[in-house]
Amino acid sequence: MSFPNHRPRRLRTTPAMRRLTAENRIAPAELILPAFIREGLSEPNPIASMPGVVQHTTETLKRAASEAVERGVGGIMLFGIPEVRDAEGTASLDPEGVLNKAIRDVRAEVGDDLVIMSDVCLDEFTDHGHCGVLDSNGYVDNDATLDIYAKMAVAQADAGAHVLGPSGMMDGQIGVIRQALEDAGHVNTAVVAYAAKYASAFYGPFREAVDSQLKGDRRTYQMDAANRREAIQEVELDLAEGADMVMVKPAMSYLDILRDVAEMSPVPVAAYQISGEYAMIEAAAANGWIDRRAAITESVLGISRAGANMVLTYWATELAGWLKEA
Ligand code: PBG
Repeated sequence: MSFPNHRPRRLRTTPAMRRLTAENRIAPAELILPAFIREGLSEPNPIASMPGVVQHTTETLKRAASEAVERGVGGIMLFGIPEVRDAEGTASLDPEGVLNKAIRDVRAEVGDDLVIMSDVCLDEFTDHGHCGVLDSNGYVDNDATLDIYAKMAVAQADAGAHVLGPSGMMDGQIGVIRQALEDAGHVNTAVVAYAAKYASAFYGPFREAVDSQLKGDRRTYQMDAANRREAIQEVELDLAEGADMVMVKPAMSYLDILRDVAEMSPVPVAAYQISGEYAMIEAAAANGWIDRRAAITESVLGISRAGANMVLTYWATELAGWLKEA
């Protein structure tokens, strides 16, 4: 009788054995909680397509940030929803505007115990919902938008953000933001580049979350789902412009891209498990079709295993609690 030398099942026999021999683990510290704050709310406002996620008031946002700290979550990514919108997204530059104020409030609440990140993008602030300003043909004007991003970035750094997250996919955005930060003396404010961000159908629930005014799509500035090589080019451009970290977004339908970027990037790589990915798992779990906790844990582990050093996920705080228990 011959015995095969390799019997992988030996390492699967008990939970303790599986735990010991696990090749990858996720830790609370690598999770980033995306959070929404809406101007003028007196109570948190549930987002129907993202059960369990709300548009926060100042008070509930501060509480969410403190809870994240208690659970050991690594960071928070803030998105603001203003009361008044216009074609240029002017409210984004107001130091008392919803997002800048939220950054200041969260920083006052948690200090440096949580990495505070903020969205540098105009889509929440424009009355047409695009990530930039429009030219006379309704085309998103790349360079006119860059001027605004530079000012937005400085306003957010002034407010106390540790890391800025330009998510608008304008060419050259990392370079102008880096330059503006340097000129304003914010030499230690980092930038996470949404380097490979695809035009995805899975952003649907986010558009509800930020009450987006967008009609149409973002295909003239976000990447085409068909393209893999192009992601490397986008990352290389952002690195050359000074990105401190790079991101791939969405995560689950783009794990090959994430792997490619993880292999070539000299800086930390983030992946964003987006609203539609959240909604799918929540919906299936609500129907009893999948085990919620197991599915959430597996989905984030898969993103991490594919090469993400950091994962943005709406389950960050809840998942961190489970990881601490385990
Ligand atoms: C744009 C932005 C979007 C998301 C994050 N930043 C929406 C978009 O590009 O349409 C989506 C995040 C998610 O779906 O969870 N500021």
